[in-house]
Amino acid sequence: MDYKKKISEAINSPLVSEEDIIVAAEGHGDYALPCFKYAKQLHKSPQMIAADFAAGVAGCDFVDHTEVAGGYLNFYLSRAAFVHDVMFGGSVIDDIRRANAGKTVCIDYSSINIAKPFHIGHLMSTAIGGSLYRIYEYLGWHVVGINHLGDWGTQFGKLLAAYNEWGDRSKKLTLNDMLSLYVRFTEESEHDPELAERGRTEFRKIEQGDPEAVRTYEMFKATTLEEVNKVYDRLGIKFDSYNGEAFYNDKMQPIIDELTEKGLTEVSDGALIVRLDDYGMPPCLIRRSDGASLYATRDLAAAQYRADTYKFDKCLYVVATQQNLHFRQLFKVLELMGREWAKDLVHVQFGMVSYEGQPLSTRKGHVVFLSDVIENTVNKALSIIEEKNPGLEDKKRIAENVGVGAVMFFALGTQRIKDVDFDYDRVLSFEGETAPYLQYTHARCKSVLAKGGEAEPGEYDCSLLTDDDAYAVVRMLSQFDEVVMDAAEKYEPSAIAKYLIDLAQRYNRFYIVNRIVTEDVQLTKARLALTEAVADTIKKGLHLLLTEAPDRM
Ligand code: ARG
Repeated sequence: MDYKKKISEAINSPLVSEEDIIVAAEGHGDYALPCFKYAKQLHKSPQMIAADFAAGVAGCDFVDHTEVAGGYLNFYLSRAAFVHDVMFGGSVIDDIRRANAGKTVCIDYSSINIAKPFHIGHLMSTAIGGSLYRIYEYLGWHVVGINHLGDWGTQFGKLLAAYNEWGDRSKKLTLNDMLSLYVRFTEESEHDPELAERGRTEFRKIEQGDPEAVRTYEMFKATTLEEVNKVYDRLGIKFDSYNGEAFYNDKMQPIIDELTEKGLTEVSDGALIVRLDDYGMPPCLIRRSDGASLYATRDLAAAQYRADTYKFDKCLYVVATQQNLHFRQLFKVLELMGREWAKDLVHVQFGMVSYEGQPLSTRKGHVVFLSDVIENTVNKALSIIEEKNPGLEDKKRIAENVGVGAVMFFALGTQRIKDVDFDYDRVLSFEGETAPYLQYTHARCKSVLAKGGEAEPGEYDCSLLTDDDAYAVVRMLSQFDEVVMDAAEKYEPSAIAKYLIDLAQRYNRFYIVNRIVTEDVQLTKARLALTEAVADTIKKGLHLLLTEAPDRM
């Protein structure tokens, strides 16, 4: 099924490799070869070169005809044979998986902060990382999902002091309680230096391993994870490691020693830094003047630990653009330390999220909880279903799939670098570029298949799927694995989202002009087979976007 390869082999020129063949733009055949880059070497115009290559493939049975157009050579395949290949040929995914077997990718994502709300801002990291997890897994990689918890810092001393002071020990603590305790501490300690001091004392106790302090700190951690795990479960997100910042407390010293031995550090105002002026960056802070380690120090130790433990081929950090400098510094320091694998570290950054037109800022108190957003979306999905299809069985579960899908597609449907605004009506629209639109198309396919059930599956005449509308769908189907690979290479789940929308639109166009179940058994079989392939592909693709595809809607 590897047509790029087949075409390049048919051209049989040392200048042309399969990477040079592209999928043709709409209306220009199936594949194309841009001939501009050979002009210099061959001393001919791109048009002439295209014509020469065309002569070479003239006798080829899988090419119906070619066309020279503006420096491109366009290939029109023999449609029936191509359709047969797509519908009956083995998929290339097994080869892809074999090629990737033994490769490991670490994905640092979600990486929430203990005792802080899981807000809609974390949604992007959670969704993009969770989707990349499934994408790499699909392609045969070994994936290690890491939730690099923000579970260390002086704030835990403050929270502990607040809990000792005002905490209600008679009932189970919640994430909300922790938030209020922390806010109250921040307010009151401003004019109460004695309270502020107690915060510092409590943190020292945690650091020194005082059993009582550590027990409470662990309780904060467990409480947060318990609540956050509910959201992860709902989204189908999983992690292989929850080693967060605290895990690296005893793993930083060797890194600091090595940095110093290699002459990379400098003491500045009592703090230990690595100067990065030569690379146009401010210094990377390794140790504060009071001896405390920093976020960057922990990340250095974490990268080393991951390299040692998982021997990754790639290590991704799915974190907002705001931390761009941090990661550039981190990667540079590791490179200066001579870590060969520093080149395999990637900051997979994403833009800002706003909510119904308002920016999200914890400091200004405009916090939107992710669990509430999911709950609201699911409830709205349920009322849409009640309105459109009141007799639907299993409404609750389907509303859950639609609501969660809508939220996931919001996070994954747009190029990750772009800023996005969450809007209930938009994410739940059944007509726009949304998950519900894809789910609806999938359900429509399923209901067509149920109606046409009596047509036996099996062989049918592939030339029945060569009209423009059917063929456009078949072409889309042939591209699935390539799109997934592209998404992995660019760390861009939106490539799959875009593809699925395109596929669904083409199928719907086909569906509008053609009856699927007709009097002609052969034709019915062929069209049902196409419908089934579309349903399967949408389902597979949505799964990679953390979204379920219910059979009915
Ligand atoms: N907890 C951090 C935050 O919420 C993100 C951590 C990202 N991962 C890392 N290895 N630095 O901002």
